[in-house]
Amino acid sequence: MNRSGRPGAAGRPLPEDLAALRRALLGHYDRTRRDLPWRGDTDPYRIWVSEVMLQQTRAETVTEYYRRWLERFPDVETLAAADLDDVLLAWQGLGYYSRARNLHAGAVVVRDRHAGTVPGTYEALRELPGVGAYTAGAVASIAFGEAVPAVDGNVRRVLARLFDRAAPAPKWLRETAAALVDASRPGEWNQALMELGATVCTPRSPGCHACPVSAWCAARAAGTQEERPAPSARRAVLRERLATAVVVDRDGCALVARRPESGLLGGMWSFPDTPLEAGVEGDEDALVASARKAATAAGARVSHEPPLALLEPVRHRFTHLAATYRPVVLAGSGADGENRRWVALDAPVAVALPVAQRKIARAAATVLGRL
Ligand code: ADE
Repeated sequence: MNRSGRPGAAGRPLPEDLAALRRALLGHYDRTRRDLPWRGDTDPYRIWVSEVMLQQTRAETVTEYYRRWLERFPDVETLAAADLDDVLLAWQGLGYYSRARNLHAGAVVVRDRHAGTVPGTYEALRELPGVGAYTAGAVASIAFGEAVPAVDGNVRRVLARLFDRAAPAPKWLRETAAALVDASRPGEWNQALMELGATVCTPRSPGCHACPVSAWCAARAAGTQEERPAPSARRAVLRERLATAVVVDRDGCALVARRPESGLLGGMWSFPDTPLEAGVEGDEDALVASARKAATAAGARVSHEPPLALLEPVRHRFTHLAATYRPVVLAGSGADGENRRWVALDAPVAVALPVAQRKIARAAATVLGRL
């Protein structure tokens, strides 16, 4: 497109405009970029960590996790040598834990097959476990200066608007982003696009007046910026109710069990739970019976006394699942095992507990007077 907003050949900017567009965006980025701890760094391991953390999480949240992570795992060898449970513990609260598993698995591959050196090309990075086109593009461009694109959700939105595309196909996005990359500053170019999406070209109420590339924006010219890209058809959200057993022993420790590798929160620790059948919502006996069953299946000896407490439901929204946990506090006992641990309810720090599980732990500790 040109400055009048008309798309050029194949819907891409004309070359003479491209240089001006790059200058405008990079200049804006140089003046306004947020001061984030990974900015200015070119260490590939640290860039890799930051980009994986940033995939589903806002930069403000990532900052503190990132600092702590690097204290704990300062380099690829330390991460590769670490116990997966410790890695998940450091990730606790960031969600989408497969990201942490993949980082760990990737570090092991770097140690074992690349002599501890993070591979320096897009193609080689792509071979690492869990490293997709985005992460490989971000690390290759930021750490190694390779002129490859990195298309995340923010970049997708910026490009959809620049070219006024309602439903940009992945291939079009890849090719367009690749054609735009500034070969003299590829890492900063990619980050400038992401930054624009995060701070100016936001999903709602985009700040076109403050946008350095609005003169080139086809959606702005057409007045369609708020509708670009069009929302994708949403996958149906499943709803699940779960009876959750908080089995507490005499010392105030509660049983958590490792979940099966496959399925929701695979391999993470949680209080034993089991889905509640539809129609038993108001039936406390059915709830308690289900919680007992889950506890027993997880290896607890559960007292036959009535439950110590029924806690308020705890709700958690996963990507495609709205879970409602119905925690039942039961008296019981048992021993630690490979896949079960008795953890202090008021400080369950020994294992990585997902956010909803920590809420349940806090609620149970409060009710039992332990907080
Ligand atoms: N989002 C993901 N990675 C980013 C980066 N490097 N800069 C800005 N936003 C980002």
